[in-house]
Amino acid sequence: DKGNHRHFMQKEIYEQPVVVAQTLQSYLRPLDGKVALPIPDSDLADIRRVTIVACGTSFYAGMVAQYWIERFARVPVEIDVASEYRYRDPVMEEGGLALFISQSGETADTLAALRHAKAGGQKVAVVVNVPTSSMAREADLLLPTHAGPEIGVASTKAFTCQLAVLAALAANLARAKGRLSEEEERRIVRHLAEAPAALNGALAYDEMIEKMAHMIAGARDVLYLGRGPDYPLALEGALKLKEISYIHAEGYAAGEMKHGPIALIDEAVPVIVLAPSGPLFEKTVSNMQEVQARGGRVVLISDYDGIAQAGDNCLATITMPKVHPLIAPLVYAIPVQLLAYHVAVVKGTDVDQPRNLAKSVTVE
Ligand code: M6R
Repeated sequence: DKGNHRHFMQKEIYEQPVVVAQTLQSYLRPLDGKVALPIPDSDLADIRRVTIVACGTSFYAGMVAQYWIERFARVPVEIDVASEYRYRDPVMEEGGLALFISQSGETADTLAALRHAKAGGQKVAVVVNVPTSSMAREADLLLPTHAGPEIGVASTKAFTCQLAVLAALAANLARAKGRLSEEEERRIVRHLAEAPAALNGALAYDEMIEKMAHMIAGARDVLYLGRGPDYPLALEGALKLKEISYIHAEGYAAGEMKHGPIALIDEAVPVIVLAPSGPLFEKTVSNMQEVQARGGRVVLISDYDGIAQAGDNCLATITMPKVHPLIAPLVYAIPVQLLAYHVAVVKGTDVDQPRNLAKSVTVE
């Protein structure tokens, strides 16, 4: 049932504040300022390496997790798409945790990779939205997202719920490895607990984004740029737009522009820049200015301070609530989802069932 919404995708975008709160509830104890995964710290303490494997949007959630796990837990992380991981003869050492992320828990490539890792002696953890799925059954450690059924082929609420679980996992692993003070843990829990309200704040810009969609809908190509944990969000934004509006889009690490893609820049290619305030803001803005200096038309997504500082000369700006950099990837998912959604509606495509795609890809 779509309720008051025109499409399942729109409904699922709007569910995010509630379902992310639901998911966080089972991994955080806000009153004690603790993260609480369903596994004793002693079972995590000897993990020496994490391998993250997934496909599509779930893979991008994994890319964000790589930043978090390395930063907080200081455990090396490798990440690959499932279709590559399975066939590249990966090195599996003792003390390896293989982490699989999947909304459906049935994606054939990811499931095959899971079995491969298990056979290689890795401890297997899964972040899945369907608790009865094959991946859930075959895992040593099951970390469910509580997003509820996701119907739209374009994944939205499953993604932000995956991020919520992965942030808790990173913090819990850090604590188990003795890398997190009580104070730091308390702070992380507090920032995560603020995410649902921030997601609500981000949804308030829906109408503005809807208007902006008319400017993007005529483009043949669109670029998305981000840095650090918001670089995967640029990839996610581009994937969402491709999937449902059929506009060619690419996501890049902002710093990579001058190594090639900047050659594409002209006034016909809108460039969406994701730049929350934080340690990477200045660098991202300088990459954005390189684009503008070559006639590129930029849509800047930032918070009030960021837009006050760098919003001049942009084609348009989208103001997000000002949040701690830890939760920015969750919050910035909303405008990229909404932009893709409204562009697709303007173009009149089949938003919930885009051509050539299936909700669950059960063939390799
Ligand atoms: O069910 P999964 O999370 O394993 O699915 C992985 C991808 O097929 C999926 O994320 C796909 O990229 C979505 N259609 C993206 O919106």
